[in-house]
Amino acid sequence: MVATATTAAVAGSDGATEVLQTNLRSYRRALADAPSDRAILRVAPTLPDIVDYRRLADSLPTPVSEVEIGDSRILVKRDDLTSSLYGGNKVRKLEWLLAGPAAASEILVTGGGTASHHVLATALFGRLLDLDTEAVLFTQPPNPGIEVLARVLDATRTPAHETSSMFLYPAKLLEVAARVLARGRRPRILYPGGSTGAGTLGYVDCALEIAEAVDRGEIEEPAVVFCALGSAGTAVGLAIGFEIAGLSTRIAGVRVTDAIVNGPPVLHAMDGACRGLLRIAGCRVPSAVWRIEIVDGYLGDGYGHPTLEGSAAVEIAGRLGLPAEQTYTGKALAAALDRAGHEIEGPVMFLETLSKADPLDALTARS
Ligand SMILES: Cc1ncc(COP(=O)(O)O)c(C=O)c1O
Repeated sequence: MVATATTAAVAGSDGATEVLQTNLRSYRRALADAPSDRAILRVAPTLPDIVDYRRLADSLPTPVSEVEIGDSRILVKRDDLTSSLYGGNKVRKLEWLLAGPAAASEILVTGGGTASHHVLATALFGRLLDLDTEAVLFTQPPNPGIEVLARVLDATRTPAHETSSMFLYPAKLLEVAARVLARGRRPRILYPGGSTGAGTLGYVDCALEIAEAVDRGEIEEPAVVFCALGSAGTAVGLAIGFEIAGLSTRIAGVRVTDAIVNGPPVLHAMDGACRGLLRIAGCRVPSAVWRIEIVDGYLGDGYGHPTLEGSAAVEIAGRLGLPAEQTYTGKALAAALDRAGHEIEGPVMFLETLSKADPLDALTARS
């Protein structure tokens, strides 16, 4: 959060909503003073005429730092720092998903696992914009993030509907949307991970930030950027951004969920949808999916299941002061560490997509 915390305790359930409202007011003030330029608007200035856009991240562009692990040197794109309210990769997508004239009757309907960062970010940034959210949650393996999400949903007054499997959840999402309609409200469905053509624009912007840093001579051009491949908007957006910038950088998307969610047909559909929006805004760019290598072998028993390599990477990240967890960033970092300095010629970049800001700080009274 922006206000410096010499903190009290996290408010209990009853007080948390009130404390959150106070902290959201201070975040709105911080946003008003934060840099408003976005790299993507330099290549497609008319994009906000086509896709509603609303600034939600107060700390873009994010910096790049360099870490040494053993004999490997890795550049880290610090997307953990995108927002002092709740950083990570979701807020970049939500800037293109939550804007627009919100009818008072509108409700955001979205979903994910019981520890989903996307659901958490939607509930929090939705509340920042005075939009209600309803969430569909599928059961995932035990994880400290489950308790965190439950507390944020409680404080944001976000009802959650549970379903037992990630494969049942798209149907449940539609069922919840139908119930919202039946109550006379209008559902705005946000698909998994915010990975639609519009949401993907957030990661086109991130790649263009990297390209601008290369142009200014601040960093070397990365040969490969490693990131977690979940709903895939992050990887596809990066690929399109590097295509626009004319860099030769490729993306290693480390699969952290079932292939049905992020196989080649999904990547191509998202690439086409996102490039279509850019094209209407006058920015023609060829398909960029060729830049993405899907990296298998780090998923373990499935989405959210810890692995030995992932746990080791989480520990290393902790020593380096980087946030990490078992579902996404641990697995992606494990792959980057395995390959950096061995199989890859040229600089390796790791995209840090987990929030550094603790979302429970938003529920914490400040003095
Ligand atoms: C921390 C974190 N990193 C990476 C990802 C993967 O991003 P994407 O869904 O765009 O592939 C997610 C998605 O939920 C995430 O929460």
